[in-house]
Amino acid sequence: MPPSKIIIDTDPGQDDAVAILLALASPKELEVLGITAVAGNVPLALTERNARIVCELAGRSDMRVFAGCDRPLRHSLVTAEHVHGKTGLDGPDLPEPTMPLAPGHAVDFIIDTLRTEPAGTVTLCPLGPLTNIATAFEKAPDIASRVQEIVLMGGAYFEVGNITPAAEFNIYVDPEAAEIVIKSGCKITIMPLDVTHKALVTKPRNDAFRALGTPVGIAVAEMTDFFERFDKEKYDTAGAPLHDPCVTAYLLKPELFNGRHVNVEVETTSTLTRGMTVADWWSVTDRPPNAMFMGDLDADGFFTLLTDRLAQL
Ligand code: BDR
Ligand code: CA
Repeated sequence: MPPSKIIIDTDPGQDDAVAILLALASPKELEVLGITAVAGNVPLALTERNARIVCELAGRSDMRVFAGCDRPLRHSLVTAEHVHGKTGLDGPDLPEPTMPLAPGHAVDFIIDTLRTEPAGTVTLCPLGPLTNIATAFEKAPDIASRVQEIVLMGGAYFEVGNITPAAEFNIYVDPEAAEIVIKSGCKITIMPLDVTHKALVTKPRNDAFRALGTPVGIAVAEMTDFFERFDKEKYDTAGAPLHDPCVTAYLLKPELFNGRHVNVEVETTSTLTRGMTVADWWSVTDRPPNAMFMGDLDADGFFTLLTDRLAQL
């Protein structure tokens, strides 16, 4: 079988970086057509830089990295330096990238790619606020029906919020964009905090990254060393959750994940719960299911896959 074609839309972010590395380490299964950066964890100038740093770390300076939207559709940007540090990729000491940005806007790359590749063959993998994807769908209404699937990290139901009491960061930053994407009619799989909080980097798991002894293994260990202090303090957990790698791991081994096909709606108006993903987990409404909402993960299987693949880089 030829590899599946994907576009990674991202706001790196240490966990975004690991998600990208996992995809680039898996060329038999995944062909990354391009990486589109969006403002999120840190401003766009840093997310596009960080995406290029990660490609170079993986030895893939040939990858096309596009800069996209620098702010959400209707509101001003909220960032997460309190989690990811000033650069978004704090932790390892990685060199400034030398590969250039690809010419053109990320949104146009997404549109052109979906129009050029055969319909139903490209999967979108959003790892940050959904601004680029929603803008592409608004600008080119013909492309949504050409998407194979959208597998995204965002939202929460049982875990509720990590940026407000009700909302998860990626959806909170641009709920209007999330609403457009969720209502697009595309096949959608969502990795909410309910599942990503189970992808916890415990000390032995981090030691296994470091023990790879490669620049990639050491950088990933140092990224999680930095990133974990936030969750350890907040949730009193043993380590950092690798949110975004759940997306790329799912594309490689869907059997690691369990969820329900349910209705998911995004709250866009309430000041109290703006950005909340209201998942009808118990089917208590007659709203039609529109997304696969994940809830459980084989964490050992996930970390075995991740460590084995990172060893390939
Ligand atoms: C999400 O927000 C960001 O901080 C992470 O990169 C992840 O995509 C988790 O809420
Ligand atoms: Ca992210």
